[in-house]
Amino acid sequence: MFKAVLFDLDGVITDTAEYHFLAWKKLGEELGISINREFNEQLKGVSREESLQRILAFGYREHDFSPKEITTLANRKNDNYVEMIQKVSSKDVYPGILKLLQDLKAINIKIALASASKNGPFLLERMELTSYFDVVADPSKVAAGKPAPDIFLAAANGVGVGAEYAIGIEDAHAGIQAIKAAGILPIGVGDPEVLGNDLSIVKDTSELTLEYLKNAWNTR
Ligand code: BG6
Ligand code: MG
Repeated sequence: MFKAVLFDLDGVITDTAEYHFLAWKKLGEELGISINREFNEQLKGVSREESLQRILAFGYREHDFSPKEITTLANRKNDNYVEMIQKVSSKDVYPGILKLLQDLKAINIKIALASASKNGPFLLERMELTSYFDVVADPSKVAAGKPAPDIFLAAANGVGVGAEYAIGIEDAHAGIQAIKAAGILPIGVGDPEVLGNDLSIVKDTSELTLEYLKNAWNTR
């Protein structure tokens, strides 16, 4: 049986993936770079700094800004995003997630957050979920972002569970790659066309029950 479940946040616990998209879209428009949802799939799970680099490269503007200007742009996107998430509450937790956290806690399975977002702790507070998490891995302390395994390994390490006893839950292609690279069992939330055909995938979080996780574990 698995001993820990490592959760991504944006797009797994709540709908903040949409806010990230809207905030990047707005910044892109200010720079004359138009991004659509298809391109946005490449930003999911990816750090703030790397996301900005990808957007600038997409618009052939990667050489147009100094490091200082890049920092200003990243801050501008984050300020806008932070404004959008001020009203997030426990009502915004995706279906099934609270019950899953409760069921995992009841059988002493460790719970950790493995999000690339520096806004993770704030969002857990807003959603009244902080107390369920044994550990929140700090994305500013890992050497490489997703698709590198670092944040998932940090989360597993943080709860003292080996990768081979952990499950990771992700909605992003980069996130699934990170989980696989860590030697952790991935469960995807979303579309197999984006996430792949070689793993368990739920269409939405209401399917993410303890039974589903046990079944995925036993048939891995
Ligand atoms: C990930 C999101 O969870 O966090 C990305 O999927 C986002 O879209 C990344 O860029 C970093 O988040 P933040 O809140 O630190 O800018
Ligand atoms: Mg995500």
